[in-house]
Amino acid sequence: MKLFLDSANLKEIEEAVSWGAIDGVTTNPSLVAKEHRDFVPLLREICERVNGPVSMETTTRDAEGMAKEGRLFATVHPHIVVKCPLTKEGLKATRQLSSEGIRVNVTLCFSPSQALLAAKAGASFVSPFVGRLDDVSQDGMALIRDMKTIYANYRFATQILVASVRHPIHVVEAAKIGADIATMPFSVLEALIKHPLTDIGLDRFLRDWEKLPAAIKQFKTVERTLA
Ligand code: E4P
Repeated sequence: MKLFLDSANLKEIEEAVSWGAIDGVTTNPSLVAKEHRDFVPLLREICERVNGPVSMETTTRDAEGMAKEGRLFATVHPHIVVKCPLTKEGLKATRQLSSEGIRVNVTLCFSPSQALLAAKAGASFVSPFVGRLDDVSQDGMALIRDMKTIYANYRFATQILVASVRHPIHVVEAAKIGADIATMPFSVLEALIKHPLTDIGLDRFLRDWEKLPAAIKQFKTVERTLA
């Protein structure tokens, strides 16, 4: 499964790239607004740091406006994927942009019927928001299971990009179901690494190592032994 970072923050993106952890980035208007920067240069800088798709969301409600914005975003960098909302107008824009060879990520997906329509419109990615469904007492992961079945039944090439991920369990469940991608905030990516037993184990190993006399620990001794 691919992992994307859901962030427009360059420091977070650089750090996650240095771990070899991320295959792409998703942004949305709220995340971009937090950075207080001109969005085009910011978008270009994000694309230059990540070797994979970078989603940027349109900010109009009508299909024509979305298509216009999408074409503009696509000129910024080849990594760009245009995000369109799961509305009638969003589907029209998805169909249009996809027919022009521009990749679209249909966002704000909350039901299997919406997911089916996004795939039919030609979306490269569809983003089901699991956390926001959980927030209203609906099972977000049930949507991922339904999408997986529907897309497999009809061999849609559309990738399931699990979004609104709130904790590591969402990521693990998505991976078990076989979702193509999960996008997550930096805090969740960090949480995927952590385990208290890893920290305790490392402390113990290093403490024991400290007990060895300095002469034995020297790298020269190791080299001589190996020669
Ligand atoms: C995905 O593309 C969205 O930007 C994101 O996952 C939304 O997450 P939230 O529900 O935590 O805001």
